[in-house]
This record gives sequence, structure tokens and C-alpha cells, in this order.
Amino acid sequence: MRVPFIDLNAQYRQIRKDIDASFNRLFAKGDFIFGDAVRKFEAEFARYCGVKYAVSLNSGTDALFLGLLSLNIKEKDEVIVPALTYIASALAVSMCGARVVFVDIDEETYNIDTSKIEKAVTKKTKAIVPVHFYGQVADMQPIIKIAKKYNLKIVEDAAQAHGAQWRNRNGKLKKAGSIGNVGCFSFYPTKNLGAFGDGGIVTTNDEAVYKRLIMLRDYGRKDRYAHIIKGYNSRLDSIQAIILRAKLKHLDKWNKTRQKNAQIYNAQLSNCKKVIIPKAANYSTHIYHIYGVRVKNRNIIYEKLKKQGIGVLIHYPIPLHLQKAYKELSYRKGDFPVAEKVASQILSLPMYPHIKKEQIKVVVDKLKGLLNER
Ligand SMILES: Cc1ncc(COP(=O)(O)O)c(C=O)c1O
Repeated sequence: MRVPFIDLNAQYRQIRKDIDASFNRLFAKGDFIFGDAVRKFEAEFARYCGVKYAVSLNSGTDALFLGLLSLNIKEKDEVIVPALTYIASALAVSMCGARVVFVDIDEETYNIDTSKIEKAVTKKTKAIVPVHFYGQVADMQPIIKIAKKYNLKIVEDAAQAHGAQWRNRNGKLKKAGSIGNVGCFSFYPTKNLGAFGDGGIVTTNDEAVYKRLIMLRDYGRKDRYAHIIKGYNSRLDSIQAIILRAKLKHLDKWNKTRQKNAQIYNAQLSNCKKVIIPKAANYSTHIYHIYGVRVKNRNIIYEKLKKQGIGVLIHYPIPLHLQKAYKELSYRKGDFPVAEKVASQILSLPMYPHIKKEQIKVVVDKLKGLLNER
């Protein structure tokens, strides 16, 4: 039995009726840009995250980029980013002309190691980008404390964490994207909330930031002809908004199914000494955008599983400080040992709401077989 890494068709079957009717209305009406569906989706996503405003854009990368710009991050500023994340978390900082400062990750949660942030803060530091890696919110309490102490902005990279919840000091649950100054999401098709193309959104409670964002995404204009700042063209279109509105209704249910699937994996792998299963932190729910395990000889296991028809991927094999794109920062191998170790061992197993128990068993059996741990 082949097991794909993800099955988007199963999601499509669940929303098909809903989107077909909406497409018919859209095609008849023709409001493809800033149409009704976009406005409604923004309001619904803001409500879902528990924030006042949501500004939709054309990608998660733009959400981070324009999110940073809306907070006035610019040349000569420094921004702290975890060393192991998708490169877009850092590229967005570079796009603002600011300097990326990497910090190592925590070996259990793979989120930024909050005990190492303060050492990376300088007079030029203006913001921290905690990435809610794999679908688990970063340890925000210490991050908020450091941000307050040094007057830093918090730009949540929630691209992998739609619907994940963080528990604050008082035990209150807050959605990813509602904690920092801005929350930045991607709607890349494979995300827990994914479009049928590119898309992204920034969430915020700050009216001034919101007002800047709506200009930044639309050529910097205040009205049709008056351009107040030099902006960009970064808009979510109505077709994507229709799909996202339909999928948003299923998001919590799909996230719960992912959690159940993770428990099935965990139960079947917990007695396996050669596999490190994901650790769920007590300060966050985990919505398992990625179900990542750690194994020795990862590259060999990865190749063999692929050959046996198992859809595996690696998120991510090269930490950002060792990427050529960032060679000008002069980081070296050994600078972030945890990120380097995790990057060399991590392996993403098939994970999606509609994966069947039997499929998980096939993945586990094959993995155990390769590790000689049946
Ligand atoms: C952590 C993280 N940040 C940012 C992005 C960028 O999002 P997009 O691909 O929509 O530009 C991604 C998407 O893969 C991501 O996983």
C-alpha cells in the first residue's frame, strides 16, 4: 500500500458543493479582487483568531514581509529568527533590508530556545519572529517578557499553526496569531488551512498597523488615486477566499483529527527506542501540521521509505545559518548545535486529517522494519 505525504483531494471532496455554488455566484458577479468573499473571509478569520483585524495577502512570505514593514522594521535593524524554520521566516526580514540574527532551537519542541534569545539582543534589535514550528505555538511567555524588557516587536510566524492555541500565565487559551503585534499565516495549499494556490494573511489588534497594512498591500494608496506610501501589490483573490471560507468551517475538526492521528502514531512508536516522537509542550496545543520524528541515519531511512511508496519529506535538512543565501552573515557549522542535530535527524511522516489508521500502520511497520525494531 502506498501512503502519500498528504491527500488534498479528500479535503476537496468535503468542500466541493459549498465552493461550486460560491464560484457560480462569483463568476456571474465578477468581483475577483477585493470582492465580497475576501471581505467576509477576513472578518471570519479575524473572529476565528480572536483579533480585531485580518488583512489578506498573496502569500505567507508577504504576510511576514508586510507584517514587519507595518511595524516599521527597516535597514540596519536586527530581527531575531530561529535557526531551524522555513527560509521565508528569514527572507522576509532580509526583504525589509534588516539583518537576520539567528538563535538556536529547543531540542524537545523544535521551537526557538527562549533561554538563548536575550544573548542575541543588541541595541539594533527591533523584533523577534517566533515560529510556531510544525503546528505548536512557541513558548511565548518568556518571549513577551524579553520583548517588553527591550522594547521589541513580536511577529508571530504562524504559517504552520492555524488554530493552534497557546496557554497564557492565567491558563487562558489564545489562538496563534493573536499573541504578538502581528500574526502571519500562509495559505499554501498543503497548510492546515490551505488555498488552491498562494495566499496569506496578517492578524493584528492594532488599528494603526492595520491601516498601514491595507495601504502596503494595495500600492500604498488611501483611495483610488492618492498614494500615501510606496506600497506593493499583494492581494488574496476571491477564488482563494471562497475556498478558504469553506475550509475554515472544517479547520477545528480537521486539526482534531490530525491530533488523533498523531496519537495513533505516538502509541505505535512510543516503544521504539530508535525513534524520537514529537513532544507536546504544556503551554500549547499541537495541531500537527507536520508530524516529525527523529531517527539516526535519517537520509538512508528517508530514501528507503520513499522507494517503498511512503510519502516522506524533511522539514528542514539545512538550518538557515548554513544556507548559502545567508553566507554574508558568516555563521559557521557548530554555531547552533541543536538546530544542526535536529536538521540531520528529523523526518516528516505522512500526516493529514483523512489518513486512515491502516495507512499509519503501514508507515510505522515500514519504518520499524528499516530500523529493525518490529
Ligand atoms: C514557517 C513558515 N513561514 C513562512 C512560510 C511562507 O509561506 P508562503 O509559502 O505562503 O509564502 C512558510 C511556508 O511554507 C512556512 O512554513
